[in-house]
Amino acid sequence: MWREKTLELIKRPGGSGRVLITGCAGFIGSWLAEAYSGAGWEVYCVDNFSTGRMENISHLPVRLLRGNVEEVELPRFDLAFHGAALPAPDFYVKRPVEAMLPDSLGLLRVLRRAAESGGRVVFLSSSEVYGDPEVVPTPESYWGRVNPVGVRSPYDESKRFGEALCMAFRREYGVDVRVARIFNTYGPRLDPDSSYARVVTKFLVQALRGEPITVHGDGLQTRSFAYVSDVVNGLITIAHCERCAGEVYNVGSDEEVTILELAKLVKEVAGSASPIVHTPPRPDDPRRRRPDLSKLRALGWEPVVKLKEGLSLTLLWLRSLF
Ligand SMILES: NC(=O)c1ccc[n+]([C@@H]2O[C@H](COP(=O)([O-])OP(=O)(O)OC[C@H]3O[C@@H](n4cnc5c(N)ncnc54)[C@H](O)[C@@H]3O)[C@@H](O)[C@H]2O)c1
Repeated sequence: MWREKTLELIKRPGGSGRVLITGCAGFIGSWLAEAYSGAGWEVYCVDNFSTGRMENISHLPVRLLRGNVEEVELPRFDLAFHGAALPAPDFYVKRPVEAMLPDSLGLLRVLRRAAESGGRVVFLSSSEVYGDPEVVPTPESYWGRVNPVGVRSPYDESKRFGEALCMAFRREYGVDVRVARIFNTYGPRLDPDSSYARVVTKFLVQALRGEPITVHGDGLQTRSFAYVSDVVNGLITIAHCERCAGEVYNVGSDEEVTILELAKLVKEVAGSASPIVHTPPRPDDPRRRRPDLSKLRALGWEPVVKLKEGLSLTLLWLRSLF
């Protein structure tokens, strides 16, 4: 799964460093932990297990700091990935206050530790900072069109606040920060049992169980789904680039599909007879999502896993669970 080029980036010539990963027992965090522990880094994992799972990291030689990132004692680090968050829409709609803490109070603590110890911080931000964009494919220079008081705002606005906080620490204390705006990502370890499962996993599970595949609204809204190894390779590329301090990068796939097309592709890949049914649209649901990836491509990164292949890989993993 890890391309040689990316692994070369994280093998330090003078021995390994220490990496702090918040949200480490979650989907993307656990794949980062696997890459860095595999390359001999000392990995500190922070997670409160609100949605994270011990099975995601129990096979890894990591030091676990169990608790809220807003509260646990953070170690000094060479590099930190701040990924602790509650990114599933159902979760941040039902528990909006809790959803606003990790990217505000939690990130503040990570940045303060970086200011004290000289560590580098990669903030796992989101395409949600663009809201419902008027410019698609969306470049990093686009400022966003976000409803600051809508039901999605606990997530959108805490990511926007988090980005501003990163830049404030850079300007005031010279902290080496990098912002990764991640677009929809899927793959093994995206929790299938949770009621907060996100769309690709939700559709695959519905197809495997022969249940109706539930599409919000007309299904003509688009997303660009990236397979997790491409995203993790992108994050590692951003983390180890020497001229990227203070920069913002889109990370994801630019293979744009409608949600209805995704539902049909899932049915085909899973060989499922599940009917596709429509449910009420979500409020403030963006119509289109597609990143302009040219800035990250200029660092030599390229997404390599096509949607059909990624769906098949994710399905293999899901079949091993059921
Ligand atoms: N997966 C995507 O499609 C996607 C897209 C855009 C951005 N992101 C961002 O990437 C990061 C990781 O996302 P993911 O998909 O792996 O999500 P995830 O839910 O699988 O992982 C997040 C982890 O954070 C933990 N957590 C939540 N609140 C915490 C707190 N207060 N203190 C400590 N731990 C806490 C959860 O238990 C979970 O293990 C998030 O910041 C998310 O916003 C993800």
